[in-house]
Amino acid sequence: MLTVPVSLGDRSYAVTVGHGAREALVDSLPPAVKRVAVVTQEGIPETLIPSFGSLPVTVHRIGVGEESKTMATIEALCSAFARNGMTRNDIVIGVGGGMVTDIAGFVASVYHRGLNVMHVATSLLAMVDAAIGGKTGVNIPEGKNLIGAYWQPIAVACDLDALDTLPAREMRCGLGEMAKYHFIAHEDLTALPLEERVARCVAIKGEIVESDERESGRRALLNYGHTLAHALEIETNFEMAHGEAVATGLLYAAHLAHTMGRISAERVEEHYRVVRGVYDLPGAIPGGMDPENLLIHMAKDKKALSSLTFVLDSANGLEVVSGVDNDDVVRAFRDFETRSSTVKP
Ligand code: GLY
Repeated sequence: MLTVPVSLGDRSYAVTVGHGAREALVDSLPPAVKRVAVVTQEGIPETLIPSFGSLPVTVHRIGVGEESKTMATIEALCSAFARNGMTRNDIVIGVGGGMVTDIAGFVASVYHRGLNVMHVATSLLAMVDAAIGGKTGVNIPEGKNLIGAYWQPIAVACDLDALDTLPAREMRCGLGEMAKYHFIAHEDLTALPLEERVARCVAIKGEIVESDERESGRRALLNYGHTLAHALEIETNFEMAHGEAVATGLLYAAHLAHTMGRISAERVEEHYRVVRGVYDLPGAIPGGMDPENLLIHMAKDKKALSSLTFVLDSANGLEVVSGVDNDDVVRAFRDFETRSSTVKP
C-alpha cells in the first residue's frame, strides 16, 4: 500500500493507493462522527464499501449516466440525509467513479453548509483525476459541471481491487487520463507497476493542486488534451467517452504544438508512443467529422475565457496558450488526419 500526501494546510489529506485501500479510510474518521452516509451508484459492487465498525451506515445509490448528475440528485440526497438525522459532524463517503465523487463531494459541500467527505475511487479515471483535488459539481442543460464547489476530501482511497471488475471501456478511459501525466510531468511512467503508476499520477496531480487549488493558472495544465476532447464529446453526443476523447485530444495537441513550431516531430512521435503504443488507445477523430464544427465547440470551451485556448507542449513543458490562430488549428487537423491514417485507427 502506498500513501501520497496532498498538502493544503489545514485541509491536507492522504491518498492511499493499493489493493484493499478502502479499509484504510476508517483511520481518518473524525472522532465526532456518529453516522456515515455512503453515496454510490448502481453497478458498483457492495464489497467496495468500507466497513466503519459499529457506526450506522446508510447507502444512497444515485442513477447511472450524466442525466443523473443534477441538482435534483443533490436535493434528493440532502432530503435523505435530513431524514436520517445526519448532522454537520457526520460524514459522506463517495464510493464510485468520477460522477459519484463529484456528486458526493458537492452534496457534502452544501448539506448543513458543509460536512466532511472521503472517497473510495473505484474507476481508474477517478483514482488518477476526479477524486483528487476537490473539484465537485453537477450539470445543467446549459453545460457540464456548471454548478459546483471546491471541497477537499479528508481522505481518499484508490482501491485497486475495484479495477478487477471495471469494464474494459472504463479502464481505457482511465488510461487516457493517465497518459496525460507522462507529458505534464515530462516523465516516462511506463516502467512503473500499476500501483506505483497510480500513486505517481496522484502525486503529480496533488502537487499541481497544492500550487493552484482554485485554478487561477497552473491547474489548467491538468486539462492537457481536453480542449479537443470536450468538443469531441459534444459532437459525438457523448458516445465518445471522456478518456477516449482525451487520448485523441493529446495527439491532436501534439500536432498543433508542432504546427506552431513549439515542439519537434520527435516529440509528436513520443505522444503516439505513449497513447497508442503504451496504452493502446485509438486516439483518432471519428470518420466524417467536420473540423469546422469542432472548432466552434472549442471556441466555446469554458477554459477559453477570451479566445481559442489550448494547453500545449513546448521545450519548457506544458503551457496554457491563448489566441491560437484558426489556420493553425485547421492545419493541425489535416496533419493529424494524415498521420493517423498511416497507423492503426
Ligand atoms: N480534472 C481537472 C482538475 O481537477 O483540475
